[in-house]
Amino acid sequence: MRLYKKFLDGVPEYLARYYWWAYLWRWGIWFFDHQPVINAILFGQYDRLLKKTLAQVETRPDAKLLQLTCVYGKLTPLLLSGARNEIHLCDIATGQLQLARRKTLHYTERCHLARMNAECLAYRNDAFDQVIVFFLFHEMPTSARHKAYAEIARVVRPGGSVLITEYAATPQQHWLYRFVPFRWLLGHLEPFLPGFWQEDVTEKLNDALRQNSKALNGEPGVEHCFADFYRIMRFNIAAR
Ligand SMILES: C[S@@+](CC[C@H](N)C(=O)[O-])C[C@H]1O[C@@H](n2cnc3c(N)ncnc32)[C@H](O)[C@@H]1O
Repeated sequence: MRLYKKFLDGVPEYLARYYWWAYLWRWGIWFFDHQPVINAILFGQYDRLLKKTLAQVETRPDAKLLQLTCVYGKLTPLLLSGARNEIHLCDIATGQLQLARRKTLHYTERCHLARMNAECLAYRNDAFDQVIVFFLFHEMPTSARHKAYAEIARVVRPGGSVLITEYAATPQQHWLYRFVPFRWLLGHLEPFLPGFWQEDVTEKLNDALRQNSKALNGEPGVEHCFADFYRIMRFNIAAR
């Protein structure tokens, strides 16, 4: 039996096959949740990305937020300590949810964790004022990603927003991208990143919103980081 199949415990096949070592294996979970490791993976940009992301988070006390999937590091505790609102966090991996629970013990009354596939969410339509997605899309195959767009568009309310922190479009001019061995390595470790690099996120989200009789309110706010290697995108959804 292939090793990854041992991790097929109700998770999507792609997650077990390509990322068991990062998100499903207990020693992987232990290893990656260290600040120097996270920062190294993001080429020293973690704090900058986090700061720019947090600056766009909805902090109204009555706002209901969805963090779509767990992340290593400080994002979830900082979301909770930065405001008094209700935060829902879902992920398909039980090990990730357990890690998130350990980091949010002070906030259990307003931090709700659930095991769920981002491709098929069990939340009602228009349930959230903001959906936050931190480095998830580039780890999904195209079809899974498009289902996730559809679900985000369904659960965000008109007048709400979607906040996406991710790789930017294909960084043709970036020195890292131009260094062929690095590009080869990244393509191996992140097999869906080349596809994501070429995707027009605004167009895909807009299409998904239209399917839900919603629309963007103007152009997205986009901030770039690390010479356009990463970006933070805030999409405001038009009120009805
Ligand atoms: C947010 S992404 C990448 C995060 C980034 N590398 C970090 O930790 O900062 C990783 C998470 O997405 C989860 N995940 C991946 N595909 C998923 C899916 N279809 N549904 C729910 N969770 C998923 C994984 O279990 C993992 O916890």
